[in-house]
Amino acid sequence: MKKKILISGANGQLGKTFGILSDKYSNWEWYFLTKKVFDLESKSSVSASLNHIKPDVIINCAAYTAVDQAESEIEKAMLINNTSLGWIGEYAKKNDCKIIHFSTDYVYHNSCNRPLVETGECSPKSVYGKSKLAGEKTLLSSQPDSLIIRTSWVYSPFGKNFFLTIQKLAEEREELKVVNDQIGSPTYTFDLAKSCLQIMDDHLSNNKSFPTGIFNYSNEGACSWYDFAHAILELSDKKVRLIPVSSEEFPAKAPRPAFSLMSKKKIGSLLNQPIPHWRDALKNCIDLAYSKLIRQNKRS
Ligand SMILES: NC(=O)c1ccc[n+]([C@@H]2O[C@H](COP(=O)([O-])OP(=O)(O)OC[C@H]3O[C@@H](n4cnc5c(N)ncnc54)[C@H](OP(=O)(O)O)[C@@H]3O)[C@@H](O)[C@H]2O)c1
Repeated sequence: MKKKILISGANGQLGKTFGILSDKYSNWEWYFLTKKVFDLESKSSVSASLNHIKPDVIINCAAYTAVDQAESEIEKAMLINNTSLGWIGEYAKKNDCKIIHFSTDYVYHNSCNRPLVETGECSPKSVYGKSKLAGEKTLLSSQPDSLIIRTSWVYSPFGKNFFLTIQKLAEEREELKVVNDQIGSPTYTFDLAKSCLQIMDDHLSNNKSFPTGIFNYSNEGACSWYDFAHAILELSDKKVRLIPVSSEEFPAKAPRPAFSLMSKKKIGSLLNQPIPHWRDALKNCIDLAYSKLIRQNKRS
């Protein structure tokens, strides 16, 4: 019998990426669920879908991701990013279902300026960060057979993300200001999703044990948002004056960590390929974004 894989948050940037990559895994039965049928604000919606599908693996791409808005929607952020993980975890524990779930670099937010390790101190400062850390704990206590991946600065050719925002602003403005005092590493959804698929394949097809616990994942290398914006413009051949500024010039409702660079040593031991450098990943994203654009133009 084919193994059943449930993807929640199927309309988000990571969910859509799994949708594209799933074509290569036709030996599994895929279920892509959006908020309409798998609503993390509703226990009955979550239970109904899980009891109907009976998945072997849940890849939870759904989340409350509006970082600034979360500061004034605390209950909603907590319900989606924390409480719902208890419902999913309980189901999974009873039904021997594995879970891959995503968390964030915002859970660390400590004053460390060496690559952040999974066992390091967590001190989230924003509601979003607190809700994601609470969700990690809720999930691991209800279903310890869960794999939680903390990721950072996620982007892709679709959805809402920094890569697309810079591309759009470059069309509209002659000058862009971008902060240069927050350091981290971007994550291309295709690299993250491919790593998850390899880990799942090792477990489901090659009988390796399912890795559990918390793992960091982003692309390799380090940069500031300014460096990232610079590379996006350079590699997409867009001419705009880019000005480095400090975070103080861009006050946001939710505080951002100044240093988010994560060590990938732990997850590296599970992967059969090195994690791509963020610049190489960015080139791949730009190629895909342009090939999509070319296909659309050919059709119209
Ligand atoms: N984006 C980043 O920079 C970043 C960084 C670190 C970690 N992460 C984590 O990575 C994971 C994937 O993020 P992403 O960038 O793919 O996020 P995304 O593009 O914002 O997608 C999130 C998805 O969750 C859905 N959703 C929202 N509320 C829901 C609810 N009540 N029930 C069910 N689905 C709901 C959204 O649906 P609608 O669009 O219909 O609202 C959307 O499809 C998340 O766990 C996120 O916390 C992201």
